Amino acid sequence: MIYSVSNHKGGVGKTTSTISIGAALANKGKKVLLIDLDPQSNLTQSLSIKNIQISIYDNLKGEKLVNTIEYRNNLYVLPSSLDLSAAEIELSSEPGREYILKDILAPLKNKFDYIFIDCPPSLGLLTINALTASDYVIIPMQAEYLPLRGLAKLTEVITKIQNRLNHNLQIGCVFLTQYDARKVLNRDIAESVLEFFGNKFLNSKISNNVALAEAPSQGKDIFLYNKNCRGALDYEELWKDLLKPKEKTTEKELRATFIVKHSNIEKLKAIAYWERKSIKKVLDEALGAYIELYEKTNGTIQIPK
Ligand SMILES: Nc1ncnc2c1ncn2[C@@H]1O[C@H](COP(=O)(O)OP(=O)(O)O)[C@@H](O)[C@H]1O
Ligand SMILES: [Mg+2]
Repeated sequence: MIYSVSNHKGGVGKTTSTISIGAALANKGKKVLLIDLDPQSNLTQSLSIKNIQISIYDNLKGEKLVNTIEYRNNLYVLPSSLDLSAAEIELSSEPGREYILKDILAPLKNKFDYIFIDCPPSLGLLTINALTASDYVIIPMQAEYLPLRGLAKLTEVITKIQNRLNHNLQIGCVFLTQYDARKVLNRDIAESVLEFFGNKFLNSKISNNVALAEAPSQGKDIFLYNKNCRGALDYEELWKDLLKPKEKTTEKELRATFIVKHSNIEKLKAIAYWERKSIKKVLDEALGAYIELYEKTNGTIQIPK
């Protein structure tokens, strides 16, 4: 399974999330590869990976040997280098330029349980290569500013890639990082993102936690740095939420939500008429299903349009 961690805004927690989710899965015995596709090499540096003979840049330029470096048990890194900043331009005239990474990863896909690609903060050719190679895109975002317009741009690119380059690509999830529930703005933004993404928006949020910012200076992932800190616990919750199969909302439940949200006596009368039930029974059933759905989704139900 290949996941791109993407958001064209910088500083939203892509690199931190790539490392932390990957490390959490490695702790569970899964074999994980992290790919640093950002020319700034933050992931490579955060894990203090040095003496890089071959980087992802060399592979994109045609080098066949893929240098997966074992960082710790089950956790491997395909490092970046500063040369990667030239790749966008150098590869732009290659035929099939969007598929280069997909071809590189094809032989690796079966060797790892999970591959995570840390994308650069742009929607250029490197990100397009990542999305073309991926099964899922996961989108970390900060709740500090109103991000919906930027997200619309990202979802537009994802839709184009789904239509033209990779029919399999799905939005895996959207989640908030550096979250502070005490801030009203954070809570407001969480609500608008929920409306925008519905059940793709994860309930789990990553708190603002200084240990997450400190760990890279020691070349450690958060679990090696301090496995009991808030950040480690949050990422531990997040990957479970991320991999949990999304429950399909049933027709009945969707209709119940609709009724509760938009109910007026005329609509209820019409439904009662068509279903040969009393209005009270229609409302009771709808409310029952609504409450069940509300509890099942921890309060994040999707209201149908
Ligand atoms: N939950 C968090 N709490 C505190 N600091 C964080 C958190 N997540 C990331 N950071 C810090 O914020 C900065 C940006 O995060 P980073 O993961 O590099 O974002 P991106 O890869 O999207 O640019 C880094 O210095 C990182 O250590
Ligand atoms: Mg980064």
